[in-house]
Amino acid sequence: MKILVLGGTVFLGRAVARQARDAGHDVVCAARGSSGRPVDGVQFVRVDRDDPGGLDALDGAFDAVVDVGRRPSHVRNAVEALRGRVGHFTFVSSGSVYADTATPGQTVTDAPVMEPAPQGFDDPFADAEAYGRCKVTCEQLVASVADRVFVCRAGLIVGPEDPTGRFDYWVRRAARGGEILAPGEPDDLIQLIDVRDLADWIVRAADRGLAGTFDGIGAPLTRREFHAGLAEGAPSVHTLTWIPQSFLTVREVAPWSGPRSLPLWLPLPEYGGFLSRDATPSIEAGLRVRPLRETVRDTLSGLSEVSHNTGLSNEEEAKLLREWNSR
Ligand SMILES: NC(=O)c1ccc[n+]([C@@H]2O[C@H](COP(=O)([O-])OP(=O)(O)OC[C@H]3O[C@@H](n4cnc5c(N)ncnc54)[C@H](OP(=O)(O)O)[C@@H]3O)[C@@H](O)[C@H]2O)c1
Repeated sequence: MKILVLGGTVFLGRAVARQARDAGHDVVCAARGSSGRPVDGVQFVRVDRDDPGGLDALDGAFDAVVDVGRRPSHVRNAVEALRGRVGHFTFVSSGSVYADTATPGQTVTDAPVMEPAPQGFDDPFADAEAYGRCKVTCEQLVASVADRVFVCRAGLIVGPEDPTGRFDYWVRRAARGGEILAPGEPDDLIQLIDVRDLADWIVRAADRGLAGTFDGIGAPLTRREFHAGLAEGAPSVHTLTWIPQSFLTVREVAPWSGPRSLPLWLPLPEYGGFLSRDATPSIEAGLRVRPLRETVRDTLSGLSEVSHNTGLSNEEEAKLLREWNSR
């Protein structure tokens, strides 16, 4: 296949390009080249999607296109530029399109999505809902770009080259050992996908002509299982101390990401549906998920010294543990 990746210079886009190249496909990556660089062995075309004619440099037909865009204007321009010369189109959307973050176990067919962004709105970073609403608009825009359109609503993507540092925090923390602060309850759920598994599915989906809307996420696991996977992939001498949400919230520990946060931890019950989606339809449609220990091991071996400013500092964690243990 000749595959065009709109993006392809960072994390998932790079993983898709690498996976497609390794599967023997002819890969073109189109981006500005400012966020990163594509993998070796693919053709790179410099484009700027902020320019309405920015994709004019892309000649010919493509068996498959993968778009990781978030701005409706970028996706609208791509649809106009590529319609009629694309066999299969994958749009990488997000679980952030869902309107109900609280109800556990939702599937792609029963879950309501947010309203699309208002006409002309184009800033996915404007406020908390803007990203999801822009993705809803993008999903609507791509519906007519090709006969076969795969909308892949990615959940939490982790693994090597993750630019966010969220999963890296836990891998580093597991490898350091000692007393580890684990948030919430051991039976709370978490849900993620290795970037390479998602890329593999996207490339095979294009090859098979998979059409429809699916969640790009593995089955949920308990936090106990999550920490067990961390311990297997990044072994150390350690103990886990589970600290409930109420204790952490009062001490202004932030959820999900950022400074003084516990990454990948979300308040319950309001986010009880965000990390507990039913992955059965995706697995039945070909998604294959590797064991967590492999994701942890490979992330550990690729960790860089880049500071993401996400998570608790060693001192913040130690202070919280002291307060909890002496209550
Ligand atoms: N990370 C997660 O946990 C998560 C969860 C759910 C969904 N998602 C979705 O998964 C996808 C992740 O994609 P990704 O990892 O490849 O990262 P990304 O940050 O979405 O990559 C954006 C790509 O588009 C290019 N780009 C940005 N602005 C451009 C412009 N004006 N003109 C041309 N190219 C432009 C960037 O390259 P240049 O800057 O070099 O141009 C880069 O290659 C996204 O769709 C995201 O919404 C992610």
